[in-house]
Amino acid sequence: MKILLLGKNGQVGWELQRSLAPLGELVTLDSKSTAYCGDLANLQGLAQAVRDIAPDVIVNAAAYTAVDKAETDVVQARLVNAEAAQVLAREAKQLGALLVHYSTDYVFPGDGQNPWYETDAVAPLNAYGLTKLEGEQAIQASGCTHLIFRTSWVYAARGNNFAKTMLKLARERDALNVINDQFGVPTGAELLADVSAHAIRATLKDSRLGGLYHLAPAGETNWYDYARFVLEQAQAAGVALRVNPEQVGAIATEAYPTPAKRPKNSRLSTQKLQQTFALNLPQWQQGVARMLQEILETTT
Ligand SMILES: NC(=O)c1ccc[n+]([C@@H]2O[C@H](COP(=O)([O-])OP(=O)(O)OC[C@H]3O[C@@H](n4cnc5c(N)ncnc54)[C@H](OP(=O)(O)O)[C@@H]3O)[C@@H](O)[C@H]2O)c1
Repeated sequence: MKILLLGKNGQVGWELQRSLAPLGELVTLDSKSTAYCGDLANLQGLAQAVRDIAPDVIVNAAAYTAVDKAETDVVQARLVNAEAAQVLAREAKQLGALLVHYSTDYVFPGDGQNPWYETDAVAPLNAYGLTKLEGEQAIQASGCTHLIFRTSWVYAARGNNFAKTMLKLARERDALNVINDQFGVPTGAELLADVSAHAIRATLKDSRLGGLYHLAPAGETNWYDYARFVLEQAQAAGVALRVNPEQVGAIATEAYPTPAKRPKNSRLSTQKLQQTFALNLPQWQQGVARMLQEILETTT
């Protein structure tokens, strides 16, 4: 079996390199690949690459993820997040390949306090969310066998993430204020990659399992409690902080304006995923604690 992985160096792409390796022959590309075109902004090149490689599974971990920048760069965001997804879906349909794609809770309006189900009405608040939604819809309309995983608040040990930023600020600054009215679930790239591999195996055996799924760990938090959790773990590991967990200030979204509007309710129900694939999703703290252990070992 041949698997084409696009966006191999992103948070999720990096972990997919590991989790997909045992499933078959893996061809991995990024935007600068030369053997084949891995640039999602080059639609013709992308289509040609898929035809030349002729994979059984296409996994698209590449995306335009600069949420604030997308507000003023919507043409490029749409090209990468929607038009490239449409091309991949068309080529997957042509080849009879399974297309795996990632989307976001930002397709939802973010009101209320209940977790969003796959069947809930969408209404993105920002340009990034809109282009990601258009990508989902293009895949669904194509008729290809697909798995679309909507996730939230992705982190990985590699690269920058919220936890690392909080650690840095708590070491350097005298005060730290964090938003406490946006709720969601931090999701590890490792978990996304591992669950993707399970779901791919199952869907290759039974294509009726294909579809749209919400994927995030169990539990919920807000950015303020998430920051405090990170600092508590760091403190317990002996890291010297200038701002201790109990000194972190809580602020409202309105006190921290950003170009793109963020949803206040990013909770996702993962019932469908867990039932369909017989999976048990761990509490979010487990993955974050593991990631912190990894980064603290290398930075302290
Ligand atoms: N990060 C989150 O909090 C979050 C939340 C919900 C959903 N998601 C979704 O999860 C998926 C994976 O996200 P992630 O967190 O792994 O994102 P990431 O770390 O920002 O990685 C995105 C990757 O896409 C690549 N990329 C951007 N433009 C490209 C282009 N034109 N051609 C080829 N590659 C391109 C980037 O490569 P370069 O750096 O070389 O440009 C990068 O490697 C995405 O679909 C994203 O929308 C993410």
